[in-house]
Amino acid sequence: MADFPHTLAAMPTTRRPGCPFDPPEELIEARARSPISRFPFPDGHQGWLVTGYDLTRAILADPRFSSRRELMKHHPTIDFGDIEVPPAPPGEFLLMDEPQHSRYRKPLVGKFTVRRMRLLTERVEQITAEHLDAMEQAGPAADLVTAFAKPIPAVVICELLGVPYEDRAFFQENVDKFLGGEASDEEVMAAYLATQRYLAELVAAKRANPTDDVLSDLLDSDLTDEELQGMALILLSAGFDTTANMLALGTFALLQNPDQLAALRDDPALTDQAVEELLRYLSVAKQFFRVALEDVELAGQTIEAGTMVILSLNTANRDPERFPDPHALDLRRRDGGHLAFSHGVHQCLGQQLARVEMRVAFPALFDRFPTLRLAVPAEEVPLRPEAADIYGVKSLPVTWDAATVPPGV
Ligand code: HEM
Repeated sequence: MADFPHTLAAMPTTRRPGCPFDPPEELIEARARSPISRFPFPDGHQGWLVTGYDLTRAILADPRFSSRRELMKHHPTIDFGDIEVPPAPPGEFLLMDEPQHSRYRKPLVGKFTVRRMRLLTERVEQITAEHLDAMEQAGPAADLVTAFAKPIPAVVICELLGVPYEDRAFFQENVDKFLGGEASDEEVMAAYLATQRYLAELVAAKRANPTDDVLSDLLDSDLTDEELQGMALILLSAGFDTTANMLALGTFALLQNPDQLAALRDDPALTDQAVEELLRYLSVAKQFFRVALEDVELAGQTIEAGTMVILSLNTANRDPERFPDPHALDLRRRDGGHLAFSHGVHQCLGQQLARVEMRVAFPALFDRFPTLRLAVPAEEVPLRPEAADIYGVKSLPVTWDAATVPPGV
């Protein structure tokens, strides 16, 4: 192939007009040329962009590729210059390799199993119903992001971590600022520091007075308070914005695909499959990075030690060699194996929780508001910029016919 390896000159900044759910065209084209492309980072580093499904999955499972933060010296859209990137703080295991990573992940695994998360279903149903009640009373119009998509995962994570009820508003406000993608850099930093301080106080409070929650459960281990604080921060940052964006963008996608929404309404048994397909189709956690620890031969290329690799999960999840007709939202799809929760040692720890939240929240929303629809033309729904870590909508104005809300609900 004359132009192999293909080079992607820069990260695309927008999606094709009218296609808010598809990865940017440049990434789809890059994958069509080859599963791996050269990618020159803005600071001059010659890295790689991986877009093919098989290759992405292989790299995610390969211990020769690192997640360590201090090795991530380059950014796909920002020139860091000579700034030294420090290692991840204690407990922030998403950006660590073995054996440090396991020190923190292992004690948490048992707390996020399918069985433990299923036990939470009833509580998630209650939380969802409360938010739907409030939305209905304030309606018949709402911003689905603030009324539904953000508060439901926020309340769930607060309860899991044991954030006292009276602190919820402060906590949610700060978390939303530092993860919500809407605040200025200064606001993000202030909210991040406030959340860190809050979590330090929370861990100290649990030490003094343990309660029934994930943090208190870990107090008997040899983990220090600083480590517990870092773990809490990771649970929070990985679990809140992702699920919130899936709920909002997923609702938008279903409203834009009325035949699929009708199929889901007609057959509630389709819910689990529908959630998996929405995860694949939307892949809101769209890209992650790895660094080669040694020279690695893959797909006919040598990925040199120290080189950064961008793994485009959303493009890999649209690979036609893995998913026939990949750009169609098909809730009856049975292909399985999407990479929306990643793969390998860092595969999402909270995936069973996210599944419970989505399996409860989507059907409950469409049951409560059978005539739910966009309140603005689809092209006016404000999208998050491509630069945001997690993709989604900034707001989702919706409306419904008040009379069609089932009586007594
Ligand atoms: C739909 C919602 C979610 C999506 C799409 C998602 C996606 C992901 C992805 C792609 C990763 C792997 C990153 C990598 O390979 O480097 C990850 C890791 C992680 N997620 Fe999720 N996530 C979601 C919800 C949650 C929830 C609800 C929680 C829990 C509270 C959670 C906790 C975590 C944690 C702790 C990690 C780090 C795992 C590790 O490094 O070992 N996530 N998530």
